Amino acid sequence: MTGNDVRAAEPALRGAGRVKAGETALGVMGAAGAGDASGVARAALDAVREHLEELKARRDAVILAHYYVAPEVQSVADYVGDSFYLAKLAKTLPQQTIVLAGVEFMGESAKLLNPTKTVLLPEPTADCPMAHMVARRTVDEARAAYGDDLAVVCYVNSTMEIKSWSDVCVTSSNAVKICRSLPQGHLLFIPDQNLGLYVAEQVPGKHVILNKGYCPRHQVISVDEVLDAQEAHPGALTLAHPECTADVLAEADFVGSTAGIIDFAQKSDASEFIIVTVRGVLHELERRCAGAGKRFYFPATVPTCINMDMITLEKLVACLEAGAGEVQAPADAAAAAQAKLTLDRMLEYAAS
Ligand code: 13P
Ligand code: SF4
Repeated sequence: MTGNDVRAAEPALRGAGRVKAGETALGVMGAAGAGDASGVARAALDAVREHLEELKARRDAVILAHYYVAPEVQSVADYVGDSFYLAKLAKTLPQQTIVLAGVEFMGESAKLLNPTKTVLLPEPTADCPMAHMVARRTVDEARAAYGDDLAVVCYVNSTMEIKSWSDVCVTSSNAVKICRSLPQGHLLFIPDQNLGLYVAEQVPGKHVILNKGYCPRHQVISVDEVLDAQEAHPGALTLAHPECTADVLAEADFVGSTAGIIDFAQKSDASEFIIVTVRGVLHELERRCAGAGKRFYFPATVPTCINMDMITLEKLVACLEAGAGEVQAPADAAAAAQAKLTLDRMLEYAAS
């Protein structure tokens, strides 16, 4: 982490309980004096890295991490990215074992796309609440009303079962492009109402039917806190994730996935940014913008994801040591095949 960037972001993050300077990944620092804390932290992290290298070689494993997981977990991963990148990448990797430092639906998607591989989740109980927020009845009623002119578009933040009710998956980085390309005139967008509404605005030629799901972490981001941050930093650009509510998105200069937000900040000529998504993205923002003098701010209540925060370095190591947290092949083979088809279609549409 570099000077300016950290100083800009840390006060707010401290308030929200981020790993503080002087704490370490595996708790080694607790025993160290305050003065040598960062040196010990680095040494501890190097030791963990070395241990992970041995474990990966033993299990023919690769570690993938989402931008929302803890900085120390991102820093030991082989690949870090947004949901789309991780799903796409998981299909191309030569290793037999994929360790997915992310929430359950990410591991499930990796397993659906790679049924012959071993997929491990460091914390299998880390779930995404939004992934369950749609009822079968909603899908059945829309299909009955619109027939063949309806596509059920499923945000990748969904269970295997919900994907199996659907026609195509999307992520926040490709939802607009894919929805625009679909031949059907009516789209039922599940489960996220906020991303669905954003898509509806971007693709006015389609009739988008919304479902009432939402990300509990983005839903509570207050537009007043975004406005306060804008007032405090009048030169900053506001970059927001489309899981935010429409009133928050209306204040944004850029709306995009986690990867989109990071790319935008890196390429932008601006030097100050208000980041309106989960705090985990700060690690990659600082890494990519190191030395560029860019400063990142969050709304006063820094958005966190308690589910992603469950994935710790200790659990990552333990999972690789024991081969634990394996994602099982779904018992319902027919549902799994349909769910896989929705992911395969996403990869095809996104590439076209
Ligand atoms: P993206 O990484 O696609 O932006 O998704 C954000 C998210 O909420 C993942 O759970
Ligand atoms: Fe789910 Fe929201 Fe956490 Fe993403 S940030 S994993 S959508 S709860």
